[in-house]
Amino acid sequence: MTSPEQWQGATSSNRKLLEGSDDFLVCYNRIKGGIMNLRGTRTENFRDFSEGCIFETLLPARFRFYLPTRIEFGVGILERVGEEAAKLGRRALIVISKGGSMRRAGILEKVQNFLYENGVESVVFDKVQPNPIAPTVDEGAQLAREKRCDLVIGLGGGSPIDTAKCIALMAKSPGKFWDYVQSGSGGRRTPQEALPIIAIPTTAGTGTEADPFAVITNPDTKEKIGIGFELLFPKVSLVDPQLMLTVPKDQTAYTGMDAFYHALESYLNLNHQPTSDLLALQAIRLITEYLPRAYENGQDLEARTKLAWASTAAGICETLAGCIGLHAMEHPISGHYPEVPHGAGLAALGPSFCEYILPYTQERLACVAKAMGEKIESLTLKEASKAAISAIRRLQARVGLAELNLRMLGVEPNMIPRLAKDAIATMGSLVAVTPGNLGEADLIKIYHQALTG
Ligand SMILES: [Fe+2]
Repeated sequence: MTSPEQWQGATSSNRKLLEGSDDFLVCYNRIKGGIMNLRGTRTENFRDFSEGCIFETLLPARFRFYLPTRIEFGVGILERVGEEAAKLGRRALIVISKGGSMRRAGILEKVQNFLYENGVESVVFDKVQPNPIAPTVDEGAQLAREKRCDLVIGLGGGSPIDTAKCIALMAKSPGKFWDYVQSGSGGRRTPQEALPIIAIPTTAGTGTEADPFAVITNPDTKEKIGIGFELLFPKVSLVDPQLMLTVPKDQTAYTGMDAFYHALESYLNLNHQPTSDLLALQAIRLITEYLPRAYENGQDLEARTKLAWASTAAGICETLAGCIGLHAMEHPISGHYPEVPHGAGLAALGPSFCEYILPYTQERLACVAKAMGEKIESLTLKEASKAAISAIRRLQARVGLAELNLRMLGVEPNMIPRLAKDAIATMGSLVAVTPGNLGEADLIKIYHQALTG
């Protein structure tokens, strides 16, 4: 709602706009009094707006703020895992990737020791692959049941944490995991219970520590689908930037761009809301500044800390607003080409996707440009929105992803119709909240554009 103070500052013509703003039509620039109509293309006082768009006040008519996960953030916070686990049970299933990085870095041993000191036994499940698959979830759930685990700890990047969430669900649910997937060939069953989850991210990317989602692939159908249930919110997430110091350069880039696009997509989402707007712009700004630093020097704890928060903040944005068509389009790529890292697929698609929807979300892209440090004050609205896309390209170039395109990732042109069909079938709800009212034909055009970047 417009505050009395804002109302006083508005011109009479702007007041008319404010009066008609019973949904998310109006943005009031509290610095200069510029007013924008966000549904249409009409914009007044753009120059004024550009100076203050970070401070915009946007209120949709209805929105929700719900985030039941307790997030504990800070260097060294891992030491809390024992006492947190002890509140939830006596035996924990620790889910890690099969790559062995948690063992090599000594992080698994630390977690087990903290648990032991607090009287919590642990069982390790170490079979999670990148782009995790449904049979792994079922196998982990079987182990959790056999060992009578009381809680599940996801330790690692997005893959082990998402798998841990789904194992927690399936440890208390009959049938197979795919029975509970809500789109595509999933069985659409509703789960009733799950074991409590502790999430400990060791990469700055997925934001899964702050959301109720998990992304799992069906290896038979190649569907890579995100599920979301309230039961999948972690009870507590321990975000410790120190655990991220050893992430390799390429993974730093991929995961960092994943977080960037979570923030960007949440900001462009037609269902954006005030908290996610603020956090998304902050995450975009932090990633633009600190991802190249962490990429250059992985031991830069300040950069890792800023990125850890940016990733968690973007995860909160996923919960409050959510991703849009870009994530819907990427999932079929890493579904059909499992060797493609999620962040690489996003980076290959991102600029083409943004260019395509630019006419429908110019004001918001202009704000993104500003958050990325672009000087937009003397630009037209169109120029300012385009500046966001060139800034994204420059950011990607600084982290070794210059000119990345779908062809370089091995995507075959004849697969594009299938990818577009899968995107709509499995993640159509994300496409529906994308500016521009996109359909399958639009996705095909974007895929083609991204083939060569
Ligand atoms: Fe993602």
